[in-house]
Amino acid sequence: MAIETVGIIGAGQMGGGIAQVAAMAGFKVLLYDISADRIEKGLATVSGNLARMVAHDKLTEDARKAALGNISAANEMSDLAGADLVIEAATEDESVKRKIYTQLCPQLNPEAILATNTSSISITRLAAATDRPERFMGVHFMNPVPVMKLVELVRGIATDDATFEAAKVFAAKLDKTVTVSEDFPAFIVNRILLPMINEAIYTLYEGVGTVDAIDTAMKLGANHPMGPLQLADFIGLDTCLSIMQVLHDGLSDSKYRPCPLLVKYVEAGWLGRKTGRGFYDYRGEHPVPTR
Ligand code: CAA
Repeated sequence: MAIETVGIIGAGQMGGGIAQVAAMAGFKVLLYDISADRIEKGLATVSGNLARMVAHDKLTEDARKAALGNISAANEMSDLAGADLVIEAATEDESVKRKIYTQLCPQLNPEAILATNTSSISITRLAAATDRPERFMGVHFMNPVPVMKLVELVRGIATDDATFEAAKVFAAKLDKTVTVSEDFPAFIVNRILLPMINEAIYTLYEGVGTVDAIDTAMKLGANHPMGPLQLADFIGLDTCLSIMQVLHDGLSDSKYRPCPLLVKYVEAGWLGRKTGRGFYDYRGEHPVPTR
């Protein structure tokens, strides 16, 4: 099952990052989103990231050109018909993903592998919404994709060995290290990371510390590269909330209840960096805590 052409659904921070690393590894990449605007924005971010890598001597000018030349816009889902692997990196919302698969599957090569970058939703359940559960699996990248070394691989109940092996080879070509997780809510990374972030939000909600105190404490006291609230803003508070909801619903344990303050921020549309405001306000020159 040789993979040469990779289709990516979703040109946001994850889809764009995956497009970038795949193109840098020499794959032909087709980037799809629901509007030409979004694709253009995603391509501009990739282009900016590649230019920054050249400026920092992490990539040659020739490699930058080659990588950019490997990515093209897919304006219609039917443009993905020639892809050997399609990675869905759409919003972390099961109904959105299901709708995409319904539309996408009839247009794909019957032999193509379909992977999801979901950070928490059951692979087996998503697979059941496709026409190819045996060629469907979870390939979960971390943010920022070009920097983070890990890819979590998750098989659904029906995923066949050839698909799993092809995903392993693909991740190795991107110079990523894989870990294999069983198909349980939020897999490994987010099963551990998100309750920590949710607890940091409770710590804020209960007045134990300010935004600044909590982030400084975890950066300097636990050597985390970012504080948990800064990281929550970076991941996106809507994504954080949906992962906590998947944990809460899927494991029926009250220890996973989403903090009401997280819910409030999401309801306000303060989703973190991407909307300019979350636990920090990013609209000025420097981020300023919002509490
Ligand atoms: N895209 C591409 N490259 C990026 C980047 C991005 N979005 N952000 C940073 N980088 C690069 C920078 O260009 C820089 O490269 P140079 O050394 O060439 O300058 C390098 O990464 C380090 O960046 P900075 O010096 O700006 O900042 P830093 O040292 O503070 O590192 C960080 C930034 C790598 C993001 C670091 O803060 C970090 O590791 N944070 C934690 C990230 C994390 O935990 N991610 C997992 C989130 S959970 C997840 O993704 C799973 C999920 O499903 C929710």
